[in-house]
Amino acid sequence: MCGIFAYLNYLTPKSRQEVLDLLVTGLKRLEYRGYDSTGVAIDSLDNKDIVMVKRTGKVKVLEDAIKEHFSGGEYSEPVLTHMGIAHTRWATHGVPCERNSHPQRSDEGNSFVVVHNGIITNYNDVKTFLSKKGYEFESETDTEVFAKLVHHLWKKHPNYSFRELVEQAIQQVEGAFAIAVKSKHFPGECVASRRSSPLLVGIKTKTRLATDHIPILYGKDVDSSKASVLPRSDSTSEFMPEQKEVEYFFASDASAVIEHTNRVIYLEDDDVAAVRNGILSIHRLKKSLDDPHAREITTLKMEIQQIMKGNYEYFMQKEIFEQPDSVVNTMRGRVRFDGQSIVLGGIKDYIPEIKRCRRLMLIGCGTSYHSAVATRQLLEELTELPVMVELASDFLDRNTPIFRDDVCFFISQSGETADTLMALRYCKQRGALIVGITNTVGSSICRESHCGVHINAGPEIGVASTKAYTSQFISLVMFALVMSEDRLSLQQRRLEILQGLSKLAEQIREVLKLDNKVRELAKDLYQHKSLLIMGRGYNFATCLEGALKVKELTYMHSEGIMAGELKHGPLALVDDSMPVLMIVLRDPVYVKCMNALQQVTSRKGCPIIICEEGDEETKTFSSRHLEIPRTVDCLQGILTVIPMQLLSYHIAVLRGCDVDCPRNLAKSVTVE
Ligand code: AGP
Repeated sequence: MCGIFAYLNYLTPKSRQEVLDLLVTGLKRLEYRGYDSTGVAIDSLDNKDIVMVKRTGKVKVLEDAIKEHFSGGEYSEPVLTHMGIAHTRWATHGVPCERNSHPQRSDEGNSFVVVHNGIITNYNDVKTFLSKKGYEFESETDTEVFAKLVHHLWKKHPNYSFRELVEQAIQQVEGAFAIAVKSKHFPGECVASRRSSPLLVGIKTKTRLATDHIPILYGKDVDSSKASVLPRSDSTSEFMPEQKEVEYFFASDASAVIEHTNRVIYLEDDDVAAVRNGILSIHRLKKSLDDPHAREITTLKMEIQQIMKGNYEYFMQKEIFEQPDSVVNTMRGRVRFDGQSIVLGGIKDYIPEIKRCRRLMLIGCGTSYHSAVATRQLLEELTELPVMVELASDFLDRNTPIFRDDVCFFISQSGETADTLMALRYCKQRGALIVGITNTVGSSICRESHCGVHINAGPEIGVASTKAYTSQFISLVMFALVMSEDRLSLQQRRLEILQGLSKLAEQIREVLKLDNKVRELAKDLYQHKSLLIMGRGYNFATCLEGALKVKELTYMHSEGIMAGELKHGPLALVDDSMPVLMIVLRDPVYVKCMNALQQVTSRKGCPIIICEEGDEETKTFSSRHLEIPRTVDCLQGILTVIPMQLLSYHIAVLRGCDVDCPRNLAKSVTVE
């Protein structure tokens, strides 16, 4: 999805070239979100105009264009205060091209330029209105409408502040947005706002900030200097004048700011954040009863190394190989293997309420949905509650009935997926208890949930989700264990699962050693058009997840098939040329899986088999197999999914696909 990055240096000398470097680096950190074009805007040398450079394609293309455009020595002259904006665009309205790239402008004179993430749903109405006022549009984007609307308001209300103009404009638009606006009429100022799309502000000062909170100002006639996080010149002597030097970073997510500062404010829907004279203030038009008085300044726990590739070629590859550590991080401080107890701090106070519920609903999209499919059976077993798993989009389409005594889990790596967030709000309105299972602290799902579990997998940059899946899986297993803590009849089962969890990291390391073997298999498969992945029971989710990975990374057709359904149709696809992969493990459905395996081999199918270490009998059915260590049935899915992640990765590399940014996809899907 689109990525926003804006940088404002106040009394902190930076040359335009340095500013451009910062903007480009910010965009590089946001690349993983998925995009098709890019752009930046900075002040012209005489400060009377705004200069924009926009390109279709990768940030590298933009970087080269910037080097060409701003090569003169005058661009290396330091400027005391400046504001620049940058954007990666994931096309929604209009094809990827320079004209449709952001920043979008209000007029030929570049009075106001805007970067935007989201969709303005009433843009046609606003466009018609503005066209009647004489505005001519140069792009097909919804964003241009916003830039022109601000311009129209500026002409109408020449005395309005920059913040008031943007505040007026956001009241006229519907839909989802995060925006950052720059204006040549308000140099050194930035105004940003969000509704349903993520946006945060990073703050960098030389010395400690004066406060950990920034008060929210309401209404039109407010004095923003009262809301400063920085000491003002009239403030008490504990602040030194040089503390006024400050840099602000507006970004779609924390990975773009972490190398500059770990102090951030996550904006809430309809917050308008404005920087003027170096002072950041947050405004809201109306006060509602449950509004807090201030926005908290959060300290990010993320480390810069976590968002770098290190010695790996791709982020996805790094993230696959991080799983022995990420699964431990998910359990860290929560699972006590010696005392056989589990504490999930984020939901412990809600457990009695959850135990009284009518049913559990697990809702997500894509890989996050698959983690729900993977753990449903165990949740049913250990909670003895009905468990529904739902794709967020379909759940909303059906207007699914929800009751006050439902407990709804929203599973999302990014915590920003629009469908999942909409489903959350739908359930919240109907009085259900909302539990968030996310990887992104401070995300919308995280903040809008009543309680939840951070999966603590660390930043996931590759568009294809890998380590988040195994950590979501474990989080849900831990929840099932918490729910069954006082059930005597389940103690033996709990014990074997806890033992399984204690060995997981080591077993994942074992599975990762299959990497070379998987690469060889990928060489057999990468020129094929299709791959069928079959399994059942606890491994059905691996089939779905494996097929999703193959599709999104390699652009090959792939289907996850419930082995029990073979005879009901998919068997017709099997012949001696159709690539098939089957998961056949020694668990309660082993005999049924063997049955399916025989059905495939008797149609001349030659499947790759994922089986347990030392299972000689199963191996006789094919010359190609991947052996994984034995674990408790309900955790098998964590080990079986790893060969699938590796396989899709290697096929993608062999096919020359962009592993970390597959075509047409985005990491964080913030539009419905
Ligand atoms: C997974 O590889 C995908 N890129 C995608 O299916 C993803 O899992 C889905 O968009 C949900 O994202 P979320 O977990 O951030 O909500």
